[in-house]
Amino acid sequence: MSGEESTASGAVAGTAAGPLAGVAAQPGVPKPDAILVADGVTRSFGGLRAVDVAHLEVQRGAITALIGPNGAGKTTLFNLLTGFDRPDSGEWSFDGRSLAGRRAHQVARSGMVRTFQLTKALSRMTVLDNMRLGAMGQAGESFWRGLIPPLWAGQEKENTARAMDLLRRFKLDAKCHEYAGSLSGGQRKLLEMARALMAQPTMVMLDEPMAGVNPALTQSLLGHVKELREEGMTVLFVEHDMDMVHDISDWVVVMGQGRVIAEGTPDSVMADPEVIDAYLGKHHDDVATDSSEGDS
Ligand SMILES: Nc1ncnc2c1ncn2[C@@H]1O[C@H](COP(=O)(O)OP(=O)(O)O)[C@@H](O)[C@H]1O
Ligand SMILES: [Mg+2]
Repeated sequence: MSGEESTASGAVAGTAAGPLAGVAAQPGVPKPDAILVADGVTRSFGGLRAVDVAHLEVQRGAITALIGPNGAGKTTLFNLLTGFDRPDSGEWSFDGRSLAGRRAHQVARSGMVRTFQLTKALSRMTVLDNMRLGAMGQAGESFWRGLIPPLWAGQEKENTARAMDLLRRFKLDAKCHEYAGSLSGGQRKLLEMARALMAQPTMVMLDEPMAGVNPALTQSLLGHVKELREEGMTVLFVEHDMDMVHDISDWVVVMGQGRVIAEGTPDSVMADPEVIDAYLGKHHDDVATDSSEGDS
């Protein structure tokens, strides 16, 4: 590590602080210290090109928000980059290592861990057991069922201690012996984030971590995300609430119809007419007064 802890957390409205200062607000723009670099990543479902990302770089140690209307391809991009789905084409590297073709647990082992838009806490396991699973990275439930006993041997004490530390931090320690299925939606989101941290990642990708979380928990979730950055982690998260995006992001990437259509500081992106358009969607046909006729 560089010892220099100058994260971009001092970001002032309008200008990117720290390492992202001076980076142009352009789709695909290079970053001074990119931890994740993707090229030509595409994925179609039938005739629909869900993801078509020509070039994308994510800055190390920063919080980057990935925004865009429903169906823009955000979750599919997460799935591709983390090995939960296969692209039709494309290359990407994480921390200098190519990850294309890697499976989810290999991706997790390399330090990039994600959470899901729909939480995947295993509801008929206790909160603590969910955490212990997180220590081994990510894979499907059936994969774990076969592997848990041998992998736990020897490491159980350490993992349990680490799990309890994280559960305390996320205020879930009192629930450690309850089934994950008994938690509220918001608590499950917290559990998922805590579980992701069990793998000791360098980068976490959070797919709508605040969705369905009540306002009281939202604040603590936001605080946790900021803490991750303070600890030197890289965060890429999907969020619809622009106030939250504005509050915690150093950089914002906007997707529309599978492509990266804009990126920049929260302020520059939110003032971008193309971004506003993407969110307004087709409604602009109804309200536009200055556009030329019928080209879309
Ligand atoms: N497994 C799938 N099969 C068919 N279409 C899919 C599948 N996953 C996603 N899509 C489609 O791909 C597009 C992008 O979806 P998604 O990545 O979930 O968008 P977002 O997360 O930005 O809302 C949508 O049109 C969606 O319906
Ligand atoms: Mg999604």
